[in-house]
Amino acid sequence: MSFISKLNRIIKSIKAFKETYKFGGFNEINITTIENKDLLKGKRILITGGGSGIGLSMAKKFISQGANVLISGRNEDKLKNVIDSLSNKRLSYIVWDVTETNLCDVKILEANNLLGGDVDILINNAGLQPKAFFPNVTEEEWIRIYETNSKGTFFLCQAICKYWKANKSSNYRKIINISSQGGFVGATYPYRMTKWDVCGLTQGLGLAMAPYGILVNGIAPGVVKTEMQAFSLKQGNNTFCNQNLLNRVQLPDEIADFASFMISDACNFMVGQTILVDGGYSLK
Ligand SMILES: NC(=O)c1ccc[n+]([C@@H]2O[C@H](COP(=O)([O-])OP(=O)(O)OC[C@H]3O[C@@H](n4cnc5c(N)ncnc54)[C@H](OP(=O)(O)O)[C@@H]3O)[C@@H](O)[C@H]2O)c1
Repeated sequence: MSFISKLNRIIKSIKAFKETYKFGGFNEINITTIENKDLLKGKRILITGGGSGIGLSMAKKFISQGANVLISGRNEDKLKNVIDSLSNKRLSYIVWDVTETNLCDVKILEANNLLGGDVDILINNAGLQPKAFFPNVTEEEWIRIYETNSKGTFFLCQAICKYWKANKSSNYRKIINISSQGGFVGATYPYRMTKWDVCGLTQGLGLAMAPYGILVNGIAPGVVKTEMQAFSLKQGNNTFCNQNLLNRVQLPDEIADFASFMISDACNFMVGQTILVDGGYSLK
């Protein structure tokens, strides 16, 4: 081994040690993703909050598997950057704030146009992170979180189900609601409480809509390495996190892979379930 590579190795070890010391441990992830370029061929998918994090990972995965994908969000520059950097003709964007619930019907029609046919899969992913915790939650904070995570999800589900019921298809339509591990444990602040809402809605709509060929299910991630968990981004390659049994955060791609299975035709008999993918956090 040359002197330079020995030196690089020492520098790497020192960096790793610094991270371990700072964050309490060290963990790296190597994931294997399921590649199937036709798994989602022909599907038209709307992902709210698709300009970053989990939503963006899902968008990338779904287009790689043949789907037409429309990502939404409030920040047009962010969405445009994604479109420019991925440069794929099956990916488009729409500026759409999910709190503007009066626009749902109009936006669904716009989405259909952009996708070249009716949306057949909706991923309710847009969400806001908490800024305050009990006992310091203000009414303003409550409204801010509820407007997006709970109200936005509910009204979009309602509008798309109404549209789908009026415009039938011989294929299953699907909704995936993104909840959280926080939706499965005690909740004392609005973010977590909205994620309980989302689980309840998923169960209720699953029951109500399955007879119409609309399958509603959900995913409850653990701590995922996105903007929402800024601490994990600061750790660089270190994925250490002591909140779950695996001592690591998740990568957004791990949720994307799971979602691609759920929206594929390999998963057409699941109704009203929110699947926890949380490294065992909720079992503790
Ligand atoms: N990261 C985690 O550890 C974790 C764990 C469990 C569950 N989740 C859930 O996973 C989902 C995605 O979060 P993430 O971690 O990927 O965070 P993220 O990168 O911050 O993504 C959230 C996205 O939602 C969009 N958004 C926020 N408010 C919106 C609104 N009113 N209308 C439309 N879009 C809106 C944001 O875009 P704009 O700001 O441009 O609108 C952003 O692209 C959220 O529902 C979150 O609660 C995350």
